[in-house]
This record gives sequence, structure tokens and C-alpha cells, in this order.
Amino acid sequence: MSLLSETASMSEPNTEILAAVAALRRGDAIGLPTETVYGLAADALDPAAVARIFALKGRPADHPLIVHLPIGAALSDWAREVPDAAQRLAERFWPGPLTLILKRHARVPDAVTGGQDTVGLRMPAHPMAQAVLKEFNSGLAAPSANRFGHVSPTSAAHVRSEFGAALPVVLDGGDCELGIESTIVDLSASVPRILRPGSIGRLALESVIGPLGEGKNEASPRVSGSLEQHYSPSTPTRLCSRAEIEAAGPSVQVLAVDQLPSGARGVILPADPVDYAHGLYASLRELDCRGASEICVERPPQAAEWLAVNDRLTRAASRR
Ligand code: TXA
Ligand code: MG
Repeated sequence: MSLLSETASMSEPNTEILAAVAALRRGDAIGLPTETVYGLAADALDPAAVARIFALKGRPADHPLIVHLPIGAALSDWAREVPDAAQRLAERFWPGPLTLILKRHARVPDAVTGGQDTVGLRMPAHPMAQAVLKEFNSGLAAPSANRFGHVSPTSAAHVRSEFGAALPVVLDGGDCELGIESTIVDLSASVPRILRPGSIGRLALESVIGPLGEGKNEASPRVSGSLEQHYSPSTPTRLCSRAEIEAAGPSVQVLAVDQLPSGARGVILPADPVDYAHGLYASLRELDCRGASEICVERPPQAAEWLAVNDRLTRAASRR
């Protein structure tokens, strides 16, 4: 809750926030820090502004975007049905890294939902995101601020390297605290389901709303993050055992857990899933810049607390 109290104390928006909101009101997109990854944000109620996001990202237009809400926003302004489970999850986990899929309100444009009957809603905890949302006083559609299929950005520098001069306004809120995208829970059908694992795990969700469904049903909405080959470095990337990491040749860069084998070239991430997630995308970007023939990622433990990390690694390692 420390992020929330910082937000509350940020009562007077500074000139940087005011300039960002002015850009949003003109229909421009901006780079926006959140506690998960940086977002590419634009006015969720302005289809032309939302079209800017798709053009910048090079993302297929039928892929839905998450709407980010200011603290205190009413879910019923954005969703036409708000099940009790949604209300309880919002009360427990917002502001924070949780996206709720609900039946859309009629005023949410098709451009945001990809023409689907549902909308993704999230109240981010980052104080700078909330300062912008408070001043903007409406919802901001924001996918991760990377070109389609690229690794998500966890710093303002990553966002600038993705878009350069095409995105003049990038707010710098430092390195993202969590480093992987929000948990997505679909509450639009009779049985709630996790569509994308994240920092808030199944047990935490089930402690609030009871058992979640397994897997996806036929009617489950499309999630572009569930396509293979998402979050990928340009360098061919492979998941490897410790023995394979130890045997990696000189042209290979490795992403090792806890310790780099002697003689290997690469980057180490901690053997703790939260700390590992925090550094994951920055490490993949770093390794991708080294001109390697291949990136070998040491497979982390296949335990429940590593689920979100393993999900992202499996996608990063799927072939283009
Ligand atoms: O942490 C996050 O969620 C970050 C930050 C910026 O908030 N955002 C993010 O957005 O990861 P994006 O667009 O990169 O991924 C959002 C995922 C996509 O896979 C999209 O398909 C899915 O959410 N999504 C959005 N609206 C949906 C809907 N109505 N039904 C099903 N999936 C939806
Ligand atoms: Mg993304």
C-alpha cells in the first residue's frame, strides 16, 4: 500500500504530468510507467487515439487493449455487468497488477475491445500512472510499450529504443517494480479463469473468490499475449538445462539462474521468482544486443511460484 499513499500525497500534478495529459487530450499516445511494464497509453474513449497505438505498435487491430483506470473510478462506467467476484478482486488487489475481463459497457469503443463483447480493466499502482490518470480523469487504453511481438519494456530507455522520435512523450518512472505483465482473470463467463499468469497467483485469487476454472473454454476471449512467439528477442532463444548452459559455446549468450558457469558468457538472474521477474525483460534485451548466435535460457524450477516467469520464457523461446 506504500504506492497508494505516495499517490495520495501527489496532489499537485507537476508540469511533466500536465504536459503528458495535454498530449493525451490532443489524441496522442504517450509512454507511461506502471508497476508491471511500461504502457503505450492513449484516450480509451477516442477511437482515433486508440488507432495511434495500433499504428505505433504494428499490432493487428483485432487484438484488444486493457483500459487503465484512475483510483476511485466506477467499474460500472466501463462494464455493463459487475459480478460480485469482480468487485471483491478489485477491492483486494487494486490498485495493482490485476486485469479483470468483464462484459463491456456500450461506450467502450470497438477499437479498444477488438470488436469483442468484453473489456479488460486495470487500476495500476504506479504513482506516476495514477497521477496522469487522476488528472486525465478517464480511462487510458494501454498495451505494453513495445512493437508487436517484441520483449516488453521495463524502463523509459526501453520505450525510447522501441519508438524513438515517433513517440515524443515518454514519462520516466524508473525501473518497473514487478517487471512482468498483470495477471488477467476472465470474469465474463460463469466460471472465472486465469487468461495470463502474473505476480498475483492462483492461490491469492482463489482465497478471495473461491475456485477458478482450469484452462480455457471455447468461448474464452482472444489474448494476444497467448499467441506463441510473443515477448521474443530477435536472437534465436532456447530454454536449456544447467548441463547445456555449462556446455554453451563462445558465440552463445546465456541467461543463468543464480550462478554463471565458469567460462560462460551471459547474465545472471536471482533464484527467487519475484526478483527474477523484475530483471527478466531487461536481461533479455541486454543479451539480445550482444550479437550472439543464440540465447540459452536456463530453465527455472517448474514450481507454482515460477508459473508467470515460465510462461514468459516459453513464449520468448518459441521460434519466429
Ligand atoms: O501489466 C499489464 O497488463 C500491461 C501494463 C501496461 O498495464 N499491459 C499489457 O497490455 O500487458 P498488452 O496489450 O501488452 O497485453 C494485454 C493482454 C493482451 O494479451 C490482450 O489480448 C488481453 O490483454 N486483453 C485485453 N482485453 C481483453 C479482452 N477483452 N478479452 C481478452 N483478453 C484481453
Ligand atoms: Mg504486450
